[in-house]
Amino acid sequence: MQVATISFDRFNALQDTEAQERIRAARARLGDRAVLLCHHYQRADVYQHADLTGDSLKLARLASQTDAEYIVFCGVHFMAEVADILSKPSQIAILPDLAAGCSMADMANLAKVERCWRELGEVLDTPDDLITPVTYINSAADLKAFCGEHGGIVCTSTNAPTILDWAFAQREKVLFFPDQHLGRWTGYKKGIPLEQMVVWDPDLEYGGLTPEQIRNAKVLLWKGHCSVHQMFQESHIRRWRMQHPDGLVISHPESSLEVCQNSDFVGSTEYIIKTIAAAPANTRWLVGTELNLVNRLAEEMKPEGKIVQFMAPTVCMCSTMQRIDPQHLAWTLENLAEGNVVNRIQVPAHEAELARVALDRMLAVS
Ligand code: 13P
Ligand code: SF4
Repeated sequence: MQVATISFDRFNALQDTEAQERIRAARARLGDRAVLLCHHYQRADVYQHADLTGDSLKLARLASQTDAEYIVFCGVHFMAEVADILSKPSQIAILPDLAAGCSMADMANLAKVERCWRELGEVLDTPDDLITPVTYINSAADLKAFCGEHGGIVCTSTNAPTILDWAFAQREKVLFFPDQHLGRWTGYKKGIPLEQMVVWDPDLEYGGLTPEQIRNAKVLLWKGHCSVHQMFQESHIRRWRMQHPDGLVISHPESSLEVCQNSDFVGSTEYIIKTIAAAPANTRWLVGTELNLVNRLAEEMKPEGKIVQFMAPTVCMCSTMQRIDPQHLAWTLENLAEGNVVNRIQVPAHEAELARVALDRMLAVS
C-alpha cells in the first residue's frame, strides 16, 4: 500500500549528524534495492555514502550495468537523465534535489541548436551530409536526441579525442556543443588550426559568423563554458611554477586553451585522480578542477607525502551539485524506504530512444 510522501519540510532543518544517521538507517532498510552513484565533485558529507563513484563516462557505464531498482544519482540533472536512458525500463533514476542542474548544459537548448542547424543549412545546403553534431554529455536529453537523429554522437571529457575521430570519419565538419573549451582543446590536440575552429554564438544570427567562416571551418564551437573551470587562469599556473619549479600541473579540459596548454596533464576527473594517485611519493601538484574533488584528493594523498593544491585563489565549487546535501539524500531515501518515489528523472520515451542512439554510438567506440 502506498504511503503519503514525506514532505521535505521535515528534513530541511535537520542537523547534519541526524541526517547522516537517517541516511544510514534508510539505506539499511532498502538494502540492495537502491544504489548510490556519486560524481567526484560531490560534497564529502554525501560522497561518503556512495556505492559507486566516477567521472561522467564511468557513471554512465555503471548506470547501464546495475540491477538495483532505484538508481539514486548524487550528481547533476544530465547525469540522472543518462542513468534513466541507459538503465532498464523497470529501474528508476532519482536526483535527490531537482535544482541540481549544470550551468554549462543550460547554455544550449533544442530551439537554439535547431536554429543553428537551419542557418548552417542555408549556407551549406545539406548539413546532414557535411556536419556531425557532437554533444558533450553535459547537455539535456533532447540535445542528445538531436544528435541521435542527425547521425551524431555524445562525448565525455575522457573519450572526446576518440569521438572526434569518429565524427570526422562520418563527415567533414563537426558542430560541438555546449562546451567550446573541451571542443577547442580536443581539436587543437589533433592539429586542427585554431582559425578553423570558430565560435558559434547562439544569440547572434548565423552564430555571428560570415558564410566564408562557416564554409572554411572544420569545427563549429558552441559558445558555452563551465562557470567553475572558467575561473582558472594561465597566470595562476605561472605564479605557482615560479614558487614550485618541480611541481606538476593537471587540469580538466573544460578549462581554457591557455590553461590546458600550460598544464603538464589534461584529462577527466577520473584521469586526474588516477594520475595523482599513481605519481611518485612526495610530488607536488596544482589541480585545475572543482574544489570538493581537490580537497578530497589532498587529504587522501597526504600519507604519501604528496601535496595537492587548488589552482584558483577563489573558491570554485560546482554550486549546483552542492545542492545535493545530506538533508535531501535522507529525505529521498526515507521516502523510497516507505515505498514513495520522489524526484524521479524520466526522459520521455521518444526522446530517450533517440538519445540512446547517440549514447550507444559513444559507448560502442570508447
Ligand atoms: P568528468 O566527466 O570529467 O567527471 O566531468 C564532468 C563535469 O561536469 C566536469 O565539470
Ligand atoms: Fe556543469 Fe561545471 Fe558543474 Fe561540471 S562543474 S557539472 S560543467 S557546472
